[in-house]
Amino acid sequence: MSQVELNRDNIIPFLADIFNRLGADSYLGEEVSMSEHMLQSAFKAEQAEESDATITAALLHDIGHYTGEFPENYIELGVDNQHETMGSAILERFFPAEVYEPVRWHVEAKRYLCAVEPEYFSGLSDASVKTLELQGGPLDHNQVKEFEKNPHLDAIVRVRRYDDGGKLAGVLTPDIGHYLDIAQSVLDENTEN
Ligand SMILES: [Fe+2]
Repeated sequence: MSQVELNRDNIIPFLADIFNRLGADSYLGEEVSMSEHMLQSAFKAEQAEESDATITAALLHDIGHYTGEFPENYIELGVDNQHETMGSAILERFFPAEVYEPVRWHVEAKRYLCAVEPEYFSGLSDASVKTLELQGGPLDHNQVKEFEKNPHLDAIVRVRRYDDGGKLAGVLTPDIGHYLDIAQSVLDENTEN
């Protein structure tokens, strides 16, 4: 495990390094690699003329799968082993809520959409259907109402759709440098941290 101390100056190169070393890993039974999935999700958001923050959320929504790459103190940030919790906890240190909230809730958004859009389920990939059960299945009525209270609901749902749309073999996208430049600009504008 890396012991580098992450800060605003090295987080983007750090993410680039993870992407370059591990991006070719397969993506949980899908037909694309992790890097293809990340790039395609970001590309979907970009094509939809989303904000830089939403494009960044789409790019980094699965970064929590790489928590083993982060310094040990980052493990404490996650309240459990779920990749969306870990990913958002890391991103929260550097990025605004427009980035980390869609990351935090991208699994729950699948459960939400299964509950409120009957046709959504039939569009899920086989791997995504398999994990849905492990993730608790569709939200129930009360959980739907609770989920809809999130002020970032719309962006959360849109990022989920870019995630779902980013699993096709052979799609050409801009490279990681293009999207990390966008992430860098979001980081630079985020003066809260
Ligand atoms: Fe994903």
